[in-house]
Amino acid sequence: MAGVAALAALALAGAVAAGPHEDALAPDYPAHMTQAQSDYVEHCGGCHGIRGIAAPADLPTLKDRVGWFLCLPEGRSYLVRLPNISRSRIDDNAQLADLLNFMLFGLGGRSVPAGARPFTAAEVARERASPFTSVSLVETRRVLVERLVRQCGAPASLRLMYPAQTAAR
Ligand code: HEC
Repeated sequence: MAGVAALAALALAGAVAAGPHEDALAPDYPAHMTQAQSDYVEHCGGCHGIRGIAAPADLPTLKDRVGWFLCLPEGRSYLVRLPNISRSRIDDNAQLADLLNFMLFGLGGRSVPAGARPFTAAEVARERASPFTSVSLVETRRVLVERLVRQCGAPASLRLMYPAQTAAR
């Protein structure tokens, strides 16, 4: 039944997220998606786009950008503690690690720093135990991205939600 659910999710994600930059069915997904791919499409693609691009919606672009967060320990922690990730309906930590690794090493593509390690179930379990609740995500991201730009050589546009967003916000 997973295939049916994935197809339904694909149709949904396509309807919700297909913007000017996306086709409803991304040709870079294989006909039989991996569990991690269909989990991403079902749980994340509706907001972030099935290819990791939701612009011009006010959502962070993941494609070719999200990998930068792997550069610093605080960045790895940030990724897992985000509310939509730490509180995901996927309660199996290995399954969530696989989803994150698909997002990072698949969609994140060339933004992944050399030598970056994939997430393990143990790391996901540890970070997930302290989800971001009261902190300002905007401020947390701002401080973190500043370090990614200065220390890791991330592009200045990472300060924005997506590259073409106007800086006035
Ligand atoms: C309801 C819409 C929604 C869903 C579903 C969602 N996200 Fe997000 N995501 C956001 C928003 C909005 C932000 C901006 C920060 C915040 O408010 O959490 C964000 C931030 C992020 C970031 C930080 C990127 C950056 O540049 O700072 C990552 C990574 C991310 N989401 C991954 C995921 C993954 C993986 C899933 C699925 C498990 C997911 N999101 C599900 C809306 C969503």
